[in-house]
Amino acid sequence: MYAPAAMPHTISREAQRRRTFAIISHPDAGKTTLTEHLLLLGGAIHEAGRVKARGEARRARSDWMKIEQERGISVTSAVMTFEYEGAVFNLLDTPGHEDFSEDTYRTLTAADSAVMVIDAAKGIESQTRKLFEVCRLRDIPIMTFVNKLDREARDAFELLDEISDQLQLDVAPMAWPAGHGLNFKGVYDLYTDDFAPFGDSPAPMPADVRDKLEEDVELARAGLARFDAGAYREGHLSPVFFGSALKNFAVRDLLAALARHAPSPRPQAARDREVKPSEHEVSGFVFKVQANMDPNHRDRVAFVRLASGRFRRNMKLVQSGTGKVIGVHNPILFFAKERETVDEAWPGDIIGIPNHGVLRVGDTLSESGEIVFTGIPNFAPEILRRVRLGDPMKQKHLARALASLAEEGVTQVFKPAIGSYWIVGVVGPLQLDVLKSRLRDEYGLDAELEASPYDAARWISAPRDDLEKFTEGNRGGMAADRDGAPVFLAKSAWELGYVAEKFPRVKFAKTRERSDVHGEK
Ligand code: G4P
Repeated sequence: MYAPAAMPHTISREAQRRRTFAIISHPDAGKTTLTEHLLLLGGAIHEAGRVKARGEARRARSDWMKIEQERGISVTSAVMTFEYEGAVFNLLDTPGHEDFSEDTYRTLTAADSAVMVIDAAKGIESQTRKLFEVCRLRDIPIMTFVNKLDREARDAFELLDEISDQLQLDVAPMAWPAGHGLNFKGVYDLYTDDFAPFGDSPAPMPADVRDKLEEDVELARAGLARFDAGAYREGHLSPVFFGSALKNFAVRDLLAALARHAPSPRPQAARDREVKPSEHEVSGFVFKVQANMDPNHRDRVAFVRLASGRFRRNMKLVQSGTGKVIGVHNPILFFAKERETVDEAWPGDIIGIPNHGVLRVGDTLSESGEIVFTGIPNFAPEILRRVRLGDPMKQKHLARALASLAEEGVTQVFKPAIGSYWIVGVVGPLQLDVLKSRLRDEYGLDAELEASPYDAARWISAPRDDLEKFTEGNRGGMAADRDGAPVFLAKSAWELGYVAEKFPRVKFAKTRERSDVHGEK
């Protein structure tokens, strides 16, 4: 039993102050730079360059992050908390590389809104589109920041048309840019008619730039949507800001708009009902687990997005499915400067819970143990490889290492019914490099990831008789995932089609909801 700890109106009030959001972008569009300036405005850091410096210090401590350094990409995601004008922001950093879309997807399940950063010279790029689609699946409202106006840029109308056409989204420019590159003079607010000049000592606007601005503003007002907070929150309309993250221009406007219009934590879908943030009972779900942040300690941090109630340090929460009671004694909140132990947290906040592998992605934690959040899927891997060990005596060690990396979501593992080897599955090829180097550096295992006969993995379910028949007839393709759930490994799309036709009562699923893993009690 749990005692009500805070009046619901306090919980509501605190929840309403929260803005939990993610930044999505194609690599190089300026996500890190924008993050930095948002943190500066929020007082979380005091000079630009800190985010990167911190990243490098972290990398130096962990070998697998060498990959990040070598390839110049960011593959881990972090959470950062800061305040601005009375609002508490939890900024989720999503990995930009396409190979990590699985991780990114999970991170986005913890966000209530997103900011899409677009390079003004490039427009919508492949990764922007993919991430946008993930947001759309969940109707996450999006604000757009068209970045790098201080460089040569494409025409603003052309960019807005592209966003609107390619993403099927209404766009409402909040301010209009005057010029770009060396001729970038500032932005004209379409709602207040104020002009915000760009640069420290702005020169007068050349006549041609001013004429074009006047013409553009007239056309934009006549032809483009006006901002509508309701349409934005429903995910149909995106307000657009033009600016320069590097020069800290228009970043404040974006942040102020987030504080004012971005949604506070929304109710979360659970198995039998929706859980409202204002409810007394504390609940949350694990959307990410990060292990071996320090190679000397095999500790893991589970990132939990709080969904309801007032969380207090030392409280006991029950893990869905297993019924395990977990005393949360050292919850961490993530600030840009450092991580701090927190005494209390509210819906929308992300807390880190250090643990030894008990908590997994998709788990629900709640006081009663009766809530099971849904909606964090496992993805069907697109690349399946067979693991061959340099030293065959280390099989047990390998099994443990794979289980732990699978828990973290680095890979998926399958144990074929026949044979004594493991199959690993990943969504993109870069994940294979990460897996190999982590096996080597963190577990001392030299492993080759060689071609396997399999082409696709599907989670199967069927009435018991059908399942038995299917298993009997297809032993060569049967395997178990890390939780023992039956998976069919098909050698080709053709084979998959063939068995699906032959066994119409068997369902072949590409994903598996993680909350199903522990099963109903
Ligand atoms: P990402 O996280 O989306 O991958 O992008 P990041 O912020 O790292 O920015 C990518 C590059 O674009 C960086 O340059 C950054 O300085 C630059 N950039 C970001 N915003 C702006 C902007 O508003 N204007 C201009 N002109 N450049 C911008 P880099 O040379 O790759 O890195 P660095 O040497 O500056 O660290």
